[in-house]
Amino acid sequence: AASAAPFVPAHASLARLREAAAGCRGCHLWERGTQTVFGVGGRGADVVLVGEQPGDREDREGHPFVGPAGRLLEAALAEAGLDRRRVYLTNAVKHFKWEPRGKRRIHLKPNAAEVSACRPWLEAELEAIRPLAVVCLGATAAQALLGKGFKVTEHRGEVRSTALAPLVMATVHPSSILRARDDEARRAERARFVQDLEVLRRALA
Ligand code: URA
Ligand code: SF4
Repeated sequence: AASAAPFVPAHASLARLREAAAGCRGCHLWERGTQTVFGVGGRGADVVLVGEQPGDREDREGHPFVGPAGRLLEAALAEAGLDRRRVYLTNAVKHFKWEPRGKRRIHLKPNAAEVSACRPWLEAELEAIRPLAVVCLGATAAQALLGKGFKVTEHRGEVRSTALAPLVMATVHPSSILRARDDEARRAERARFVQDLEVLRRALA
């Protein structure tokens, strides 16, 4: 099966992992994306947030969460009182998967084989950081880290301890908030998202 494993250096620092990930050809997605979008965060970050995969903007710029979903996420973190300097942002899949529609590049959801192929990078990031907390943003990240059967809708906002970290939580993906059917639904979804992050912030304290 496709896997990033042969490209992942053992027990490496984040800097070395990032360098190696730039040359990953662990699955076919490297051909379609502009570049590998690896995680980012300050030295000493102890809260890891895991999204799905880079979007159009992230693919061009090479950094996670720099587009509209990222702006919402930054604002929600600030509202929840989570210090940005504690946060490391990354994705379950590190290449942008898309298909052309006219001049636009339309995001395609990564499938289970792609998520599984890319998971060694996520595991290596977690091994290098040894975070106090891991937050899965949306079903793709939750299923990559918490298992196929994990239902975000049933368990969002719950803090549990797993082998990944002492504090592990799943919540929705910020993109799903942007897709809410109207302003009222969007406001409600956003408030719930901030609430989940507040639960985590209190657990960290
Ligand atoms: N959505 C994600 O899941 N990750 C990003 O980096 C940007 C948007
Ligand atoms: Fe490697 Fe992940 Fe990119 Fe596939 S998506 S080529 S496994 S970095």
